[in-house]
Amino acid sequence: MLIAIDGPAASGKGTLARRLAVHFRLPHLDTGLLYRAVGAQCLVRGLLADETASADIARALNTDALNPDTLRTADIGEAASVVAARPAVRAALLELQRQFAAQTGGAVLDGRDIGTVICPQADAKLFVTATPEVRAQRRFRELEGRGEATSFGAVLEDIRKRDARDSGRASAPLVQAADAVTLDTTALGIEEAFAAALAQVQARAGR
Ligand code: C5P
Repeated sequence: MLIAIDGPAASGKGTLARRLAVHFRLPHLDTGLLYRAVGAQCLVRGLLADETASADIARALNTDALNPDTLRTADIGEAASVVAARPAVRAALLELQRQFAAQTGGAVLDGRDIGTVICPQADAKLFVTATPEVRAQRRFRELEGRGEATSFGAVLEDIRKRDARDSGRASAPLVQAADAVTLDTTALGIEEAFAAALAQVQARAGR
């Protein structure tokens, strides 16, 4: 079974994707980490403005060495969204995502364009969303918990900026696939959101 989960930053899609993968015993790919890894290398090398270099970095990416703990910072999220708007970067990362999705038995992938571009054939597609304020609150707590100095206002601004860039770009923008089910997690706790996601996937995939 192939499950595609899309949605904006801090909507809860990553947590739901992980939980669904455990439940169905499927491999899971957080595709945001790929863009984050490219963004992080561009930052370190001072090459964020260089489109050609960012595409070269994407083509040479070692996907075995993706460390979520170091890649989930606010600065790297911002850099990821800059490089993710470039068609050559997206093209460089396309095939490895499709290969992951093609594994025997299926997989769970989460990102921005999984249901629309990477896996349009997915058995179940979820579009996970929540208000910008609630998403900012979640991200703020997460960053605070990791000791990253920031303010709620700065996080909210970052979320709004990222939403605008991810939705407004020409190449594979964040849009809901026509056959995706919306899951609004604004008023839901993790367990409620997971129960709703599971019910949707079971209904869509017939199990
Ligand atoms: O999901 P996460 O916040 O880790 O993603 C970081 C950035 O990577 C997003 O803001 C988005 O610009 C980009 N991304 C993307 N397509 C995906 C996954 C992430 O453009 N499939």
